[in-house]
Amino acid sequence: MMTGLTFSDLKDKVTVVTGGAGVLGLSICKAFATHGAKIAILDLDQEKAKDTALSLTKEFGNQNLGVAANVLNKQSLIDAKEKINQELGQIDILVNGAGGNHPKATTKVEQMFDAEDEGTFFDLDLEGFDFVFDLNFKGTLLPSMVFTKDMVGEGNKGVVLNISSMNAFKPLTKIPAYSAAKASINNFTEWLAMHMAPQEIRVNAIAPGFFITDQNRFLVTNKDGSFTERGQKIVNGTPMAKFGEPEDIQGAVLYLCSDVSSFVTGICIPIDGGFNAYSGV
Ligand SMILES: NC(=O)c1ccc[n+]([C@@H]2O[C@H](COP(=O)([O-])OP(=O)(O)OC[C@H]3O[C@@H](n4cnc5c(N)ncnc54)[C@H](O)[C@@H]3O)[C@@H](O)[C@H]2O)c1
Repeated sequence: MMTGLTFSDLKDKVTVVTGGAGVLGLSICKAFATHGAKIAILDLDQEKAKDTALSLTKEFGNQNLGVAANVLNKQSLIDAKEKINQELGQIDILVNGAGGNHPKATTKVEQMFDAEDEGTFFDLDLEGFDFVFDLNFKGTLLPSMVFTKDMVGEGNKGVVLNISSMNAFKPLTKIPAYSAAKASINNFTEWLAMHMAPQEIRVNAIAPGFFITDQNRFLVTNKDGSFTERGQKIVNGTPMAKFGEPEDIQGAVLYLCSDVSSFVTGICIPIDGGFNAYSGV
């Protein structure tokens, strides 16, 4: 029997968090920083990445690096990797945090009652689908391709953590592209876990439930801060009857990225206040 389980193995682990300057990305970075990991905050937004790195170092005293890169551009990821290797060392952990939805791939209505209705499936824009599929699927695929190179080979090992969503298990109304793109993350997590197992690289995912962030604020809250009908529906469908706080994902992240879960690969943990377990009746 194992005793004294801790996350102490995360100390000095070089950890790349894509989308690290975002809401959930920051919460993930803080979880790693608490345990002394060396974190590369990789984000499209250079200023936000640098500021996040500085404020983490100030708060936690660990070594951090803000790196600007686009998860959809392989060369920019290769350049980022070179910088990370120089400044922090060989990469041990990758968290694929960049992702999100787009209004152009979002219907206005939940169901089509009349073919003439506005804002139905017929009005969706392919541009929106391209954006969402690229960001969520290719934006996980490419960093995995580039950064796991450091994890292969004799004596090496590593961890990849993907960010899925509730809509991967059952599509949510209005967001067909985001739902399908996140379903592809669960599928890819299993595929890569199998492929990388001989290299001692574990690949898992978390599926956050509902957290209010910039991407979904327009769907779940009104301008005065009250819930929209959809926001209220979410709370009603969540047995714990609330939205999550960004800190709520930290335990599962640390568990999946540390040696505590050394025999766990190819899974996706919902962090959803019971939403996925509840049929609604
Ligand atoms: N917020 C939720 O309720 C929720 C629920 C389930 C899953 N998720 C997923 O969690 C992850 C983080 O979401 P969030 O709500 O913190 O989002 P966020 O918008 O706060 O953060 C996303 C970050 O990714 C960066 N980014 C965007 N495009 C990029 C690109 N091409 N290259 C590099 N960086 C890029 C942005 O600059 C931003 O800092 C996403 O994958 C999202 O789909 C969020």
